[in-house]
Amino acid sequence: MNFKIAVLPGDGIGPEVTDQAIKVLNAVGIKYGHEFKYNFADVGAIAIDNYGDPLPEATLETCLESDALLFGAIGHPKYDNDPSAKVRPEQGLLKLRKSLGLFANIRPVKAYDLLISKSPLKEELIKGVDIVVYRELTSGIYFGEKGRTETGAFDHCTYERYEIERIAHKAFEAAQLRSKKVTLIDKANVLETSRLWREVVSEIAVEYPDVVLDMMFVDNAAMQMILNPKQFDVILTENMFGDIISDESSVISGSLGMLPSASIGAKTSMFEPIHGSFPQAAGKNIANPMATILSAAMMMDHLGLANEAIDIREAVNAAMKEGIVTEDLDAKNNFSTQQVGDYIADFIEEKQATSKIKKDYLTIGLSTII
Ligand code: IPM
Ligand code: MN
Repeated sequence: MNFKIAVLPGDGIGPEVTDQAIKVLNAVGIKYGHEFKYNFADVGAIAIDNYGDPLPEATLETCLESDALLFGAIGHPKYDNDPSAKVRPEQGLLKLRKSLGLFANIRPVKAYDLLISKSPLKEELIKGVDIVVYRELTSGIYFGEKGRTETGAFDHCTYERYEIERIAHKAFEAAQLRSKKVTLIDKANVLETSRLWREVVSEIAVEYPDVVLDMMFVDNAAMQMILNPKQFDVILTENMFGDIISDESSVISGSLGMLPSASIGAKTSMFEPIHGSFPQAAGKNIANPMATILSAAMMMDHLGLANEAIDIREAVNAAMKEGIVTEDLDAKNNFSTQQVGDYIADFIEEKQATSKIKKDYLTIGLSTII
């Protein structure tokens, strides 16, 4: 089959990690006879530099005419240190989410057996953790009216019923295929929008009698995520709580560099690592590409290519098993961003080859796959 993929590498380590995901998609293409055609476009700080706009119209058009969208990262320290900047890289990402209607941000969090020792949390707490966060992505405080008054500032948080309903259905459908539990995270003891979430989600839960609905205040949930993460299956939450809880949950996986995500909308959907642009690592060939590669696996699932997705995940597991990982996962014996990408792509193409030999090749710099 043929697919048009829009690639928005963005800033910092974005280009390096998206390159590896493309390498992996090409390997999948060779193995399964698919053609992935990539259309590159600028977003974020690089787009501000080149066009004065973090999401140029041409980028949006490229996205709209694609089957799926691979996104790297956005952000640059020169904006982080200047809160008064009128144009910011993040605006590009937020506008993209809104323009494409990417209302459901899906963030799976797993404790990989091979990485358990990398997590600062105790093994008995995290072994077997398998959570997926459904974060609402196009509303709430991120998109409400904001501004300054003479003496202060405000950010309004608003939600419409339909915005809660559509993502709640997605979360319950996901739970039906998993451990059949949805935990709604909110702050209903204080916020009116949270009380609306409880009301709407409780109504929808009736349509899914096989799924248990639990509700938790976000402050308690932040604590429970560390104390007893195994209690969670599907987490359903609004935009800002989802942002915070999903970063927190990444600690379980041992590295933020492992967490992929999918942002699903009515038409073109977007696949991106959860981590940011990590400017300190940009251009050094040390960033972990696994989150982006695993995002490509989510893209395969979304395009109905289930075996292709399984292959990518197996190859990532093989890389971890063989210790072909970047320095965030192994401070002593590590490989470069490119080498990890090469190994994973190569594994997909020639599964019969023993990975041990490949590791030796890589170690002495003789790899035929570089
Ligand atoms: C994320 C990021 C973004 C967000 C920023 C870059 C606007 O943190 O995707 O989680 O807050 O949504
Ligand atoms: Mn975030």
